[in-house]
Amino acid sequence: MTDFDVVVVGAGVTGLTIANRLHAAGRSVLVVEARDRVGGRLLTEDVEGVRLEVGGQWVSPDQTALLALIDELGLEMYARYRAGKSIYIGADGVRRTFEGEQFPVSDTTAAEMERLTKELDRLAAQMDPLVPWEHPDAEQLDRISFAAWLANQTDDAEARDNIGLYIGPAMLTKPAHSFSALSAVLMAASAGGFSHLVDADFILDRRVVGGLQRVPLSLADRLPAGTVHLGEAVTKVEWSEEGATVFTGRGSYRGRDVVMAVPPTLVNRVQYIPALPPVQAQMRQHISFGLVVKLHITYATPFWRDLGLSGTAFSPYALVHEAYDNTNEDIDGETRGTLVGFCSDVKADGILGLDAETRKQKVLECLAGYYGEQALHPVHYYESPWMADEWTVGAFGTSFDIGSLTRYGRHLRAAVGPLQFASSDIAGLGFQHVDGAIRMGEAVAARLLEA
Ligand code: FDA
Repeated sequence: MTDFDVVVVGAGVTGLTIANRLHAAGRSVLVVEARDRVGGRLLTEDVEGVRLEVGGQWVSPDQTALLALIDELGLEMYARYRAGKSIYIGADGVRRTFEGEQFPVSDTTAAEMERLTKELDRLAAQMDPLVPWEHPDAEQLDRISFAAWLANQTDDAEARDNIGLYIGPAMLTKPAHSFSALSAVLMAASAGGFSHLVDADFILDRRVVGGLQRVPLSLADRLPAGTVHLGEAVTKVEWSEEGATVFTGRGSYRGRDVVMAVPPTLVNRVQYIPALPPVQAQMRQHISFGLVVKLHITYATPFWRDLGLSGTAFSPYALVHEAYDNTNEDIDGETRGTLVGFCSDVKADGILGLDAETRKQKVLECLAGYYGEQALHPVHYYESPWMADEWTVGAFGTSFDIGSLTRYGRHLRAAVGPLQFASSDIAGLGFQHVDGAIRMGEAVAARLLEA
């Protein structure tokens, strides 16, 4: 058994940020990772000749921790393609094109959407996303689903469906009836306000040259050789006030401190001796991953651009509720065009029960509804498999069920003896995003360095 100042479990951005900061401060650190690669939910992969962002990819201007790290690592960025008109399919099933942020809905629906946006901005401005349970209306907002809250606010179904889309399918990737209005406000507050979520040009602003996985890959490269152990899942942690030992199939490693830099849902999969305090085990049973299938559809050319379309498409009523031009602008000589689309929560349940070919046909028919007949003929089609990956089991991130953010939230980041917990899922600003992973990593590293 080897001794370290700190053993970090998980080589996602959170774990690698912690390891980098501790190493730079002269601490001995080991990172133990279950997968045979670093990056966790970030994976930039060549799939049959097409480079794809299988996991996270976009960077927005409010994500200042991520922007600073990208700068520190010397990585470059480029803007997402957005020239041309966007597409919206409303409750009447009619396809309409539009420019700017406002969906082409009736004047009354537009006014209701504007009013709801202002109300959510107001509630988010009252919240410190690190402590959402301290919001003045926390108890009340946590007891009601976001769908019920929306129904109390307006009789306009299309306004409700669109506002619900921005937080339900598009962010928490759960149906709006299954999470609380407080969780919805947290999602908005963590991104600097609900208006940011409504603005695709803001929230999906830029991409990293070479792919966002270059962030964790570069972080791992800066650590001394041998610091990151790949392919070693931690199955057991023995701990006392003096330190903790983690056990994998290959060995055991002792740290004065151990950080579980894994999603909360995977914390409970490890055996703890002695067991974690009851509130810790209970709390994490009230947290679950959302479900979204990230779809990558590549064509011989980005044909939609010739039609004057940006590639951006939305409909709360369609199987693929949002889609964007995801062509790799950073690859010299790339002539193909790639669309990325998302199929979330109950719609994802529906397609995941189908065989692969039927599923693909349904997705392509949906895209044809947005972009026309040419969308039926891709040269490459791929579905990100996060929901079947045992080291994630869902996408994009995890969130509490109704009533549990106020009941358990204050225990989320509490240490247990020498055990610390960290991941983007328990971040304040940048919640469920890479920015939050970095913020959590920095905070835990600072806490350990102060001790
Ligand atoms: P992460 O899950 O990445 O890392 C945890 C690590 O722990 C994993 O490597 C896992 O293998 C390991 N592990 C788990 N259990 C273990 C055990 N018992 N022993 C050892 N290792 C163990 N964000 C964003 O900013 N912009 C975006 O565009 C997107 N889009 C997006 C799309 C998709 C499809 C997904 C799935 C996610 C996103 N995200 C995103 C979210 C973003 O990817 C995510 O918030 C962070 O990458 C999470 O980083 P963490 O390090 O916190 O967890």
